[in-house]
Amino acid sequence: MSTKIAVIIGSTRQGRHTDKLATWVANTLKKSVDVELLDLRDYPIPFLDEAISPRFNPHRTPDTITQKWLDKIIEFDGFVFVTPEYNRSTSAVLKNAIDVIGHEIDDKPVALVAHGVSGGAQAIANLRMALPGVGAITIPQAVYFTDRLADSFEDNGDLKKEIAERPYGPQSSLETQLDSLLWYANALSAART
Ligand SMILES: Cc1cc2nc3c(=O)[nH]c(=O)nc-3n(C[C@H](O)[C@H](O)[C@H](O)COP(=O)(O)O)c2cc1C
Repeated sequence: MSTKIAVIIGSTRQGRHTDKLATWVANTLKKSVDVELLDLRDYPIPFLDEAISPRFNPHRTPDTITQKWLDKIIEFDGFVFVTPEYNRSTSAVLKNAIDVIGHEIDDKPVALVAHGVSGGAQAIANLRMALPGVGAITIPQAVYFTDRLADSFEDNGDLKKEIAERPYGPQSSLETQLDSLLWYANALSAART
């Protein structure tokens, strides 16, 4: 069975830019694995209000949308979380989508891609603290995208040539990280079975 990777768009804001970054990640991954772009706009998960932490409640009965989200993410061997930086952190919508997870991403690898004035460094740091809480494994590398998103992509979603060919630029940084993600996804998938 081929490796399945989900790329999650971490912004639902009107006029958002994170979708462009996520499409570039998905296009790059498509060359080697099964990839699905997950848009949190399609999963308007209510703010977590369960009386017991999802990881410690074997009898939980999540609402329909949360359950749809959980049923979706359990399908994948690995993830790329693509996040904006809001107030030195990840977005609330992405954090809530993490908070509702029980054991659906236990021992699965997550690659992190962010953007912002300083490449979304604090959003990434914040996700590195949060994700182990739901049993996920963040891989060592990350992509910190500092170019202006509105001007960086072709109509087909690929990175503009002058940026893609930049030595040690975002394209090579992304490809290195995705190689690592697939290595972890295959190794951990074998270990889980
Ligand atoms: C509420 C808010 C807070 C923000 N805080 C930061 C920040 O702390 N650091 C940063 O680099 N950019 C910050 N920004 C700029 C966003 O990263 C930028 O608008 C980006 O495009 C957001 O992603 P989105 O367009 O996909 O929603 C902030 C934007 C908003 C709307």
